[in-house]
Amino acid sequence: MTEPCQPPSAQQMMATVVANQACGPGIHLLELTCAAALPAIAPGQFAFLRPRHGDIFLRRPLGVHEAEGTRLRLLFDVVGRGTAALAAVQPGQELDLLLPLGHPFEIPPPPALPVLVAGGLGLPPLHFLARQLHAAQRPFRMLYGARTAARLVLADDLAALCPQLRLFTDDGSAGEHAQITAGLADLPPQAHLLVCGPTPMMRAVASAAAQAGLACQVSLEERMACGLGVCMGCVCRTRNADGQEGRARVCVEGPVFPAQEVLWDSP
Ligand SMILES: Cc1cc2nc3c(=O)[nH]c(=O)nc-3n(C[C@H](O)[C@H](O)[C@H](O)COP(=O)(O)OP(=O)(O)OC[C@H]3O[C@@H](n4cnc5c(N)ncnc54)[C@H](O)[C@@H]3O)c2cc1C
Ligand code: FES
Repeated sequence: MTEPCQPPSAQQMMATVVANQACGPGIHLLELTCAAALPAIAPGQFAFLRPRHGDIFLRRPLGVHEAEGTRLRLLFDVVGRGTAALAAVQPGQELDLLLPLGHPFEIPPPPALPVLVAGGLGLPPLHFLARQLHAAQRPFRMLYGARTAARLVLADDLAALCPQLRLFTDDGSAGEHAQITAGLADLPPQAHLLVCGPTPMMRAVASAAAQAGLACQVSLEERMACGLGVCMGCVCRTRNADGQEGRARVCVEGPVFPAQEVLWDSP
């Protein structure tokens, strides 16, 4: 059954679990297959899902990590009841999902240099984008940071996609012992930052980009109830090019916004 108010491109579908692997502390890579080919999905768009059986009523939003043919991969951190239920699903079980939702990253045309900046579990949409840029033989750079080496998951996959990958950890257990913003220092003026990660990290990257005069898009995270633009539960504060302040729905106008339009809440 199709849900009301569904954005035109979104489809509701059942997906079957192919594999659900732990790949870091509390981090799962979930592989799904759908009965029909997936709709067109752009990096930055998200899936809105829940197990078909059980007591999880509201779907949870997860960025698309990989999508090809009928196969979909999602990467997530277990932080509460919904993600714990997703971590427990077994091969053969079904999930109910809406896909694709949200406004994706806008890929800047050459001569812009895409610089993908992923903090922790902000990786999925940027991994998906890295695969597309690699397939298109488009030069790009990538910065990927996490708290520890154990949480810097799938770094080998990324290194295969991006020879210019730089890794960072807060504790120095892998890559450079620095915050990811250290990787912004030597970027050329044509760098265009595409960012997803924890809010404080995105705010710091957006601020550094503004100071350096670099273009920057950020993928925001808010809790979501409907995912369809109806409940207004996911609004964030914005400012348009004319300086007018307003509110935007992260599930429809976002999750990706030009960084200069985002009014960050005080830390
Ligand atoms: C567009 C979008 C894409 C996302 N993609 C991914 C992804 O690819 N991988 C991934 O691991 N997570 C992703 N998230 C975050 C993920 O949706 C939440 O972690 C998840 O919904 C939490 O559900 P829960 O029931 O397990 O936790 P809850 O019990 O609902 O909450 C547990 C804790 O997590 C916080 N939290 C819950 N939802 C969010 C949220 N949306 N943003 C920030 N904090 C939240 C709560 O405040 C609480 O502290 C994404 C969120 C959005 C909006
Ligand atoms: S989650 Fe309902 S409007 Fe965005």
